[in-house]
Amino acid sequence: MTSERQEKLLEVIKGRRSVRSYTAEDIDKATIMRLLDAAIHAPNALNEQVWSFAVVQDRAWLKQLSDKAKPLFYAEASQKHLDRGDSHALDIFTNPDFNVFYNAGTLILICSDKQGPFVQADCWLAAENLMLAAYVLGLGSCIIGSALEALNLPESKADIGLTKEMTVVVPIILGIPSGETAASSRRNVEVSAWRSS
Ligand SMILES: Cc1cc2nc3c(=O)[nH]c(=O)nc-3n(C[C@H](O)[C@H](O)[C@H](O)COP(=O)(O)O)c2cc1C
Repeated sequence: MTSERQEKLLEVIKGRRSVRSYTAEDIDKATIMRLLDAAIHAPNALNEQVWSFAVVQDRAWLKQLSDKAKPLFYAEASQKHLDRGDSHALDIFTNPDFNVFYNAGTLILICSDKQGPFVQADCWLAAENLMLAAYVLGLGSCIIGSALEALNLPESKADIGLTKEMTVVVPIILGIPSGETAASSRRNVEVSAWRSS
């Protein structure tokens, strides 16, 4: 790989953002299929390719699901102290106007009906491929972990057309970004150990 391509790839990795504001424009099927093709090229355990994908392009249904997701996530997050001591961090999930999907027009679900120690890893690696591909195609994306519990309710899976054996592992919204998204900061790299001979 030329050094120019190396720099470009590193720029892509660092340039991706979690986008939380979208235009009303929809994404076409051909583009979504390109993203899914990028997703399936992720490394995965034993190359078993245990993932499966579902696409939801229905803003009204997503808004309804958001309303179901908020109290479920609030209860779970409060119980597990995901607010890390900031007692207001979860307040947004009690705001009736807040949509956990940020009014995005497309939700992609990376799912699996398989069990095993690496199923989650495989799906998450596919997710990163998909989000990087979205970024280079000029699209925004954001993982919506707060909707996982609601998405895995039997009635949600039935609404989407997923079998009950299917588990949603990664929900990712997609859309055309409206405006710029600032980079979120990162702490310095911490190397906990480096043993060498
Ligand atoms: C497992 C997981 C769950 C996430 N869930 C949400 C979510 O529910 N809502 C949201 O706005 N962002 C969510 N995010 C996005 C993170 O907030 C985001 O990746 C982080 O703040 C770093 O910002 P960046 O992606 O722009 O670098 C999630 C990310 C991960 C990996």
